[in-house]
Amino acid sequence: MAIIAPSILSADFAILGEEINKVAAAGADWIHIDVMDGAFVPNITLGPPVIRCLKSFCRDHQIEKPFDVHLMIQQPERYIQDFAQAGADLITVQAEACVHLHRTLQQIREAGCKPGVALNPATPLDQILYVLEEVAMVLIMSVNPGFAGQEFIPGVVPKIQALNDMIYHRDLRVLIQVDGGINLDTVGLAARAGCDTFVAGTAIFGHQDYAAAISELRRKIAQAVK
Ligand code: DX5
Ligand code: ZN
Repeated sequence: MAIIAPSILSADFAILGEEINKVAAAGADWIHIDVMDGAFVPNITLGPPVIRCLKSFCRDHQIEKPFDVHLMIQQPERYIQDFAQAGADLITVQAEACVHLHRTLQQIREAGCKPGVALNPATPLDQILYVLEEVAMVLIMSVNPGFAGQEFIPGVVPKIQALNDMIYHRDLRVLIQVDGGINLDTVGLAARAGCDTFVAGTAIFGHQDYAAAISELRRKIAQAVK
């Protein structure tokens, strides 16, 4: 079944715990946490101390949703240990931000998390040809990272299809995640191309009914792949 990962970037930061509680009750599978450093991307968001607090909030409220931490930071290898200890379950790094991508992915696994690698819209699949065996997930960015509420870039659809073929031919178990501009008009395109994990910020947190937003997305995905 499709994995829906609401991005808390579009949630109310003054009440993040409550927002996670609501979206978890509304049927979210994972909680997508966007970490930005003001250098790799123009925006700054949050870091390990906030994630640690959210993890303990989730423990206290019996919310058992994996934390899917998307690092849009330069040289992420400096902080893998900190994010793992703060409570990340998956850690995704941007291929463009890593000098030694293979080593960084191993570091994530050694820290006890599932490794993911993300590619910006302009980054070719070639970047990950030789690390595909090392990852649990590839994240195809469908906007240029930095902000919520941007428009889906349809040019990434063939990249998703090519990645899907590659994973199939190599007989791997690697999830394909799409992130950016996912809404009722675009989610079907990504699903049909082969995505199994869908990040959505505005489409969920911008909706007045989180459960309705998630079930509408699921319905569109099911229609697209049937
Ligand atoms: C973009 C982030 C996304 C973003 C998604 O830099 O990585 O996770 O918050 O937000 P929407 O769904 O509004 O594009
Ligand atoms: Zn993200």
